[in-house]
Amino acid sequence: MKQALRPEEVKSIYNQTYRYYDMLHTLGTFRMDEKGRKYLIKKVVQPGDYILDAGGGTGLTALRAAKRLNKKGKIVILDFSEKMLEKAREKAHKLNLGQKVETKLGDLYKIPFADETFDSVLSTYSTCPLDQPIDAVKEMLRVMKNNGILGIAHSTDPKNKIAKWLSSKIERIIWKFPNVSFGCRNIELIEDIRKLNVEILEDKIIGFASFYFRIIILRKHK
Ligand SMILES: C[S@@+](CC[C@H](N)C(=O)[O-])C[C@H]1O[C@@H](n2cnc3c(N)ncnc32)[C@H](O)[C@@H]1O
Repeated sequence: MKQALRPEEVKSIYNQTYRYYDMLHTLGTFRMDEKGRKYLIKKVVQPGDYILDAGGGTGLTALRAAKRLNKKGKIVILDFSEKMLEKAREKAHKLNLGQKVETKLGDLYKIPFADETFDSVLSTYSTCPLDQPIDAVKEMLRVMKNNGILGIAHSTDPKNKIAKWLSSKIERIIWKFPNVSFGCRNIELIEDIRKLNVEILEDKIIGFASFYFRIIILRKHK
């Protein structure tokens, strides 16, 4: 596993790449990222939910999720990159989703909301750049109500030996260009998640060529 970049570096990357993030992330992963987003939204989002999109960036997940919400439902995009959030607001406005989408500047390690605020939480690819991803997951659980559903998608090593070899070669090259890798690396969370007071509802890997994502859906217990 690659060593995570420092948070200041990660923030600076996103504040520089916000203009082309959507295009590069989507094309660079052969749209597998979109597949993960759609899957999680379908499984996690209920029409009247108050939802947190943790590390939501430009809103690729949140804006899609907002379309499933009714008048009562709302989604908050939390991120520490001002520029990514600016882009998310611009897109929400264009899509006429401003009423359903809010943005909040803040850190995933110290989410600026009280305990048990949200019905559900989404984290698509936001744990990959973190040095201690499980600490962010604990924060996501803290701000979610009991029995709430947390949906996570993160980059992972493929299981197949050839795909794993290819993936590590590509990761090594891309890692040299932080504004292309976005500081995202393959991580593993499931073993740490098993130690938490949660019920794992789904755990599966989706992928193509050298890009594999792990989808984890869990329910918070008291
Ligand atoms: C790979 S992007 C994912 C964005 C979005 N969730 C998506 O599906 O496209 C990672 C996001 O996490 C944010 N991020 C990384 N570390 C963070 C931290 N410590 N606190 C808040 N946001 C963070 C970045 O600014 C970036 O927007």
